Amino acid sequence: MVKITCMQVATEVMYVNSEASIVTAREMVKKIAASIGFDVYDQYRIATAVSELAENAVKYAGGGTIEFHPIKRGLEIICKDSGRGMMQKNTGHGLGIGLKSIEHLMDEMTITTEEHGTRILARKWLK
Ligand SMILES: Nc1ncnc2c1ncn2[C@@H]1O[C@H](COP(=O)(O)OP(=O)(O)O)[C@@H](O)[C@H]1O
Ligand SMILES: [Mg+2]
Repeated sequence: MVKITCMQVATEVMYVNSEASIVTAREMVKKIAASIGFDVYDQYRIATAVSELAENAVKYAGGGTIEFHPIKRGLEIICKDSGRGMMQKNTGHGLGIGLKSIEHLMDEMTITTEEHGTRILARKWLK
């Protein structure tokens, strides 16, 4: 008989509303990424992406929540805020350096933004 042991890593949710909480989010996701099995380089990429997400939520929306969902072959991150959204400024050409870097650091990124808030989903797959 083959026994399969599956390590469970729980979903974590945290509220970011300050510089200190951005640092905490960064440290927290690094630990989660390590426990899922990402190498140190991917841990760094994921932590940097989370910093950018958290910074935007704090800077442009006064705060937001970040969820870390361990998924089958990777990690899913959802950042939500109830700010004013990204508006016209960024439709068309416009991601800034922060959002573009998230796109490069992660494997998937989906932005949903409207006048009552923004939701960004990002995923990273284990190699
Ligand atoms: N959560 C958010 N809510 C509202 N606007 C946002 C949010 N995140 C980003 N933006 C808008 O998108 C722009 C680009 O963001 P980003 O790529 O992180 O660059 P930066 O933060 O350096 O301007 C920001 O300048 C801001 O206008
Ligand atoms: Mg930014």
